[in-house]
Amino acid sequence: MPILECLKVSKAYGGLLAVSALSFAVEPGEVYAIVGPNGAGKTSLFDCISGINPATGGVIKFRDREIQGLRPHDICRRGLARTFQTTVAFDSQTVLTNVLVGSTFGREGKDPFVSFKPAAIEAALDALALCGLAGLQRARAGSLPVLARKRLMLATALATRPELLLLDEPVGGLNPAERTQMIDLIRKVARTGVTILMIEHVMKAVQALANRILVIHHGQQIAEGPPSKVLRDPRVIEVYLGTLRPMGPDAEPANA
Ligand SMILES: Nc1ncnc2c1ncn2[C@@H]1O[C@H](COP(=O)(O)OP(=O)(O)OP(=O)(O)O)[C@@H](O)[C@H]1O
Ligand SMILES: [Mg+2]
Repeated sequence: MPILECLKVSKAYGGLLAVSALSFAVEPGEVYAIVGPNGAGKTSLFDCISGINPATGGVIKFRDREIQGLRPHDICRRGLARTFQTTVAFDSQTVLTNVLVGSTFGREGKDPFVSFKPAAIEAALDALALCGLAGLQRARAGSLPVLARKRLMLATALATRPELLLLDEPVGGLNPAERTQMIDLIRKVARTGVTILMIEHVMKAVQALANRILVIHHGQQIAEGPPSKVLRDPRVIEVYLGTLRPMGPDAEPANA
């Protein structure tokens, strides 16, 4: 049984159809990548799945239960966490506090008084260690350089103890050396058993991590399958790369 199923999911912003009757399924334990040109509707799709900006049509099932009508925090507490294309954090707070907020409110959060339970503290410390932030717990989030900020956003999402993690351009904005470090970290996260649905423009990261790829254009599917097949699809090369050159490991979209 898939962990996530999107069935004819659509998202309209007024007259603009950003996601158009898109259907796909993510299997437990895989890394599933979504690629497509700027404005293809990738982030809009994540906003629908995570409840940030609900779908205007279709059905979204997480672990066989419909979630398309739920609020973001309810979806998160069921085990579906996400990161954002632009790094977000509580900048005036420490790294540790940021991750504790994830592990506490992203899991239960019914307690009107803030109390960090032992399980939440443990989850926060585990997430910090996994993401290489153990030595930065006291640092103010707003003072971190970009790679550490991305690690923090990932740690905060992981601290909610998700079964499915959505990553929106996790290596975007990083230099090549930093990209390699982030790819290694995502691989480590995947090995812990978390299923990953990832939007990514950087083909090196997609090829290093993805079991399957979905290519979308104007909110619609144009190809799906293993990287070896999808990245050689002439339609994908034409639409995504804007040239008939086959995609090499460092290929990036012409318009990125
Ligand atoms: N909140 C919004 N209100 C109105 N239109 C929006 C909104 N968010 C996105 N759009 C539009 O929807 C379309 C899809 O945008 P989206 O951000 O989902 O694309 P994307 O595939 O994530 O692109 P990128 O690769 O640049 O991040 C674009 O035409 C965009 O301008
Ligand atoms: Mg986007």
